[in-house]
Amino acid sequence: MVFISLLILINNSSDSTCIEDCSIAMGHDAIALKSGWDEYGIAYGRPTTNVHIRRVNLQSSSGSSLAFGSEMSGGISNVCVEQVHLYNSFSGIEFRTTKGRGGYIQEIIISDVAMENIHTAFSATGQIGSHPDDHFDPNALPVLDHITLQNVIGTNITIAGSFTGIQESPFTSICLSNISLSTTPPASISWVCSNVSGFSQWVFPEPCPSLESSLLNSSSTCLSRLNSSPTQTAVL
Ligand SMILES: *[C@@H]1O[C@H](CO)[C@@H](O)[C@H](O)[C@H]1NC(C)=O
Ligand SMILES: *[C@@H]1O[C@H](CO)[C@@H](O)[C@H](O)[C@H]1NC(C)=O
Ligand SMILES: *[C@@H]1O[C@H](CO)[C@@H](O)[C@H](O)[C@H]1NC(C)=O
Ligand SMILES: *[C@@H]1O[C@H](CO)[C@@H](O)[C@H](O)[C@H]1NC(C)=O
Repeated sequence: MVFISLLILINNSSDSTCIEDCSIAMGHDAIALKSGWDEYGIAYGRPTTNVHIRRVNLQSSSGSSLAFGSEMSGGISNVCVEQVHLYNSFSGIEFRTTKGRGGYIQEIIISDVAMENIHTAFSATGQIGSHPDDHFDPNALPVLDHITLQNVIGTNITIAGSFTGIQESPFTSICLSNISLSTTPPASISWVCSNVSGFSQWVFPEPCPSLESSLLNSSSTCLSRLNSSPTQTAVL
């Protein structure tokens, strides 16, 4: 197990990492979890997994306080994030990928988040990231599913959430619970969604219909994960 308490941070293809009790202020991403780039990351095949991030203060003026990807071809899974303060950032929590990456971002639980002065609170996009060369396989579609975001309070947020999945590989099982964001200006666009599905409860402002699925599968899978405590799910 690795404990990191200094200024960082790219966490690349590592197993069993704990990042706790620190403050990181950066121009670009404060913490970025990654695991390899396109065909090279697929060939190397080492995921970033079993990561616990807690009690951190993160700021990123032009990037994301906490980012996943866009290089994630070896996979990113079993990440538990709790008791985090994100502030003065372009985006709060961002999941990034694109066609050609392959790999996955799965089983991520984020809870107890306080945010302020953030342009986009949550974002997940399947259209971000360049390629190392022309040899990537455009049919290597990344998978993004089983992401839980819960117990979040945010102030001075411009866009609550932007989820734009990949048509051939939509983002699924996005579970949102107990999220309250005050947006500035009040009339700003609060949610943007395409090629994504999920379930939500007690979320304000009200998310897009595709994140309010009443499909039995989506809601029951989400509810069972929402009810299991984050520390039980993460291995650390
Ligand atoms: C609100 O957040 C934005 C960044 O998204 C920042 O530029 C602005 O100064 C903040 N407003 C206040 C009143 O803090
Ligand atoms: C909802 O989230 C807030 C902020 O994290 C927390 O204080 C509160 O206890 C949560 N409510 C429930 C029912 O979990
Ligand atoms: C998926 O995204 C594409 C653009 O990338 C869009 O044209 C299409 O309408 C979207 N599909 C759904 C079901 O939202
Ligand atoms: C629900 O999940 C089961 C098992 O995972 C699957 O066989 C079934 O097709 C799913 N139903 C819907 C409506 O997605």
